[in-house]
Amino acid sequence: MPVAVVTGGSTGIGAAVVKTLAKRGYDVAFTYLKSEREAEAVAKEAESHGVRILYRRADATSWEEMRAFADEVRRVFGKVDALVANAGGLPQRRTLDESDLDYWKTLIDLNLTSAYIATKLFVPMMEKGVVVYVSSIAAYTGGGRGAFAYAAAKAGLLGLTRALAKELGPRGIRVVAVLPGLINTPFHEKAQTGDIDAWARNMVYMRRVGKPEEVAEVIAFLVSDGASYINGAFIDVNGGWYG
Ligand SMILES: NC(=O)c1ccc[n+]([C@@H]2O[C@H](COP(=O)([O-])OP(=O)(O)OC[C@H]3O[C@@H](n4cnc5c(N)ncnc54)[C@H](OP(=O)(O)O)[C@@H]3O)[C@@H](O)[C@H]2O)c1
Repeated sequence: MPVAVVTGGSTGIGAAVVKTLAKRGYDVAFTYLKSEREAEAVAKEAESHGVRILYRRADATSWEEMRAFADEVRRVFGKVDALVANAGGLPQRRTLDESDLDYWKTLIDLNLTSAYIATKLFVPMMEKGVVVYVSSIAAYTGGGRGAFAYAAAKAGLLGLTRALAKELGPRGIRVVAVLPGLINTPFHEKAQTGDIDAWARNMVYMRRVGKPEEVAEVIAFLVSDGASYINGAFIDVNGGWYG
């Protein structure tokens, strides 16, 4: 059985990825931070597809907690075929004026360093495999008000994608980035985005927000053999949103 690791699998896009990959026959190990009940429900639904699910509370920004999780994944599954570095968010919006160094470091840790930690721990468990970074349309647009640090971190993921695609490609490990647009998840409540349906009506060519499953399906394709020659690519999943 192929084995996938997903960070932040308790809600939103990550939860949809866990369920979609389980449906496709992957054993899945995933993390959560605060949403324990949601994580339990995701695991239960994923297990109904007859695969093995391991889920643990592990802060994606903590080397120690992620290392303990990785050690357990190695003990239980012995290998990794796909890593989806999804954990991230915009817990507080601040402009440059409103920001301080702690704010900057928190956002970079959550959205960029977390991806480094997961990559560093799980790529050694891959013989061949795929790494998917969940970036954001904000990497291109700068995001809405108070998203500069988030946008910088998500743009950092694009540099990481290209550099590691080059470094790991010769070993048969592909690295790709997915850039969601406006997706209907708890993200926007936490980020106080405002009326996402109104945003979508004004900005998105399809005039609607996306569903987490619509991102998960793309990620499931990217980690599959069907995408065997896609490497270092940035994949937009935004319903058409280019100004
Ligand atoms: N929704 C959008 O429109 C959109 C657009 C572009 C990019 N994205 C990106 O998509 C990814 C998933 O977001 P989402 O929309 O699905 O939002 P979400 O529902 O808020 O999901 C975030 C997930 O990350 C986990 N998480 C947050 N901080 C964590 C930490 N320090 N350690 C471990 N897990 C952590 C959360 O776990 P707990 O709830 O258990 O704490 C949750 O499972 C994020 O990287 C986000 O930036 C989202």
